[in-house]
Amino acid sequence: MKRRDFVSLVSAAMGTSVILSCKKTLVDNQSSLHLDLMAARGGGGVPAQRYPLKFPAILSHNGGILDSKLATSDLGGGVMSNVWAYNGLFPGPTIRANDGDQVTIQLQNHLPEETITHWHGLIVDHDNDGHPMHAIPKGNVFDYDFTINQRAGLNFYHPHPHMLTGKQVYLGQAGAFIINDSEEAALNLPSGKYEIPLILRDATLDKNNNLSYKPASGGMFGKIPLVNGTRSPYLDVERAVYRFRVLNGANSRIFGLALGNGASFKLIGNDGGLLTSAVTINRIDMSNGERIDVLVDFRSVTNGTKVMLRDLRSGWDLLEFRVNSTEAGPEVNLPSTLSSISPLSSPVTTRTFSFDAMSKINGLEYEMDRIDWTVPFGVVEKWVFKTNGNAPHPVHVHGASFQVVSRRGGRNQLYPWESGWKDTVLLEDSETVEVLIRFNNYRGIYLLHCHKLEHEDMGMMANFEVV
Ligand code: C2O
Ligand code: CU
Ligand code: CU
Repeated sequence: MKRRDFVSLVSAAMGTSVILSCKKTLVDNQSSLHLDLMAARGGGGVPAQRYPLKFPAILSHNGGILDSKLATSDLGGGVMSNVWAYNGLFPGPTIRANDGDQVTIQLQNHLPEETITHWHGLIVDHDNDGHPMHAIPKGNVFDYDFTINQRAGLNFYHPHPHMLTGKQVYLGQAGAFIINDSEEAALNLPSGKYEIPLILRDATLDKNNNLSYKPASGGMFGKIPLVNGTRSPYLDVERAVYRFRVLNGANSRIFGLALGNGASFKLIGNDGGLLTSAVTINRIDMSNGERIDVLVDFRSVTNGTKVMLRDLRSGWDLLEFRVNSTEAGPEVNLPSTLSSISPLSSPVTTRTFSFDAMSKINGLEYEMDRIDWTVPFGVVEKWVFKTNGNAPHPVHVHGASFQVVSRRGGRNQLYPWESGWKDTVLLEDSETVEVLIRFNNYRGIYLLHCHKLEHEDMGMMANFEVV
C-alpha cells in the first residue's frame, strides 16, 4: 500500500537527463582534474590545498521529498564526482524535527536498483523503519509517516536494501536527522553557525575522480577522508565555543578523533542524545554508525592559528579549523546535570549473540524472511555481544536504544562516549559487551546487525520480532 508506481513520465524523463548531464560535466572537467589532484597531494612539503567545508542543506520533515538519484558533486576544487545522492546532494540534506512532530517524507527511487531508507537512531514502527523487506524497485516511491517520540539527538539516515547497503551508502546516500526537544533547548547550547554537523567517512576516487566501490570482505577502506562530502576541508571559526555533531558515516573505518594541538573538548552527548553530565576528554573513538556531540572551545586560541581535527588511527588530517576573529565569544556554562537518564535494571532474559567470521550471527547468515527470536514488549533484557574473530564489529540494533553495562576482554573497559543511550556499540576481538535493552515503543520486526556495512551485506544481520 505504501508502494506505488511512478506514473509521471516527467519524473522518468528527468532521471534520464540527469544521467546525460553528469556525463557531460565529467568530460568538461577532465582537463582540470589532473592539475587539481596534483595540488591536493601537495608533495615535497608543500601544504595540501584545502577546500571550504560543505554544509548539508536542510530538508523539511513535513512533506519533504528525498529523491535518490544519480548526481555529480564537487568534493573540493571544482572537480565533479559521480555520486548517488539524496536530492542530488552529497551528503544528503539534514532533516530537523522536534520531539512530538509528525514526519511525512516521500522517498523517490531514481537509482538503477532497489532501495529503502532507514532512520538509524529513530525509534519508529516496523513499517517506517526501512527494513530491507520494504525495498522499492527503481521508479517507485515510499511514503514515510511517523511521529517523533524520543530525546533530542543526532541520527543518521541511509539506505538499507538487502545486500546493497554498503554500495549505496558508499556512493553517497547518507544524511543527518537531528531531533530537538525542550530539555536540550533549556541548555542554550551553541546554535546557528556555532552548531555544525560533521559527517565523517572515507573514499577512494578512481582516475575520473568518481567514487569507486570495491568492497573487500574485511570492509571497504577508502584512501582519503571526506568530511561533509569535502576532501581536505577547512572551516573558518571564530574565537568561540562550537558544538560539533559528529557522525561516523564510513562503511568500515573507525576514527580516533583528537585535536592536533592536544586540546581537550567536552563530550555532551552520543547516539541517544545528551549524557547525564559533560565529560572533558581529548580523544574519542567512533565506529560506524556512532554519533557524538562535543563542544570545542576556540576562545583561548590566538587569532590566525590553525587547529587540526585529526584521526589518530590512520594519522589523517580530517578538518582544519582556521581561527580568525580578534574578540573572544562568550563562555558556555553547562549545568552539572545535562539530562537525567534512568538506568535499566533487572533483566528478565539474557540472550547471547556471537558475531562469527564476517557474515554470521550465532552461526547464521541473514535471511530476509527468517525471524530468529522474539522479544516480549516492554521488558528489560540483557543482550551479550561476543565475537569469534574478524572484529571490529560495530553492533547496531533497530527499534530501541540500549545502555552498555560492561565490556570484558580486549579493551576491558567502557568509555565515556558509551554511557547514556546507545544504538551502536563497538565490539573488538576477544571482547564481550553486555547491554540492557527494552523495546517499549512498538511491536514488530526489527534488525540486529554489524554496522561494518560489508559484514552486514554479507549476512551479519538478523531479524527479531517484538511481540
Ligand atoms: Cu545504520 Cu540497520 O543501520
Ligand atoms: Cu539503524
Ligand atoms: Cu562485523
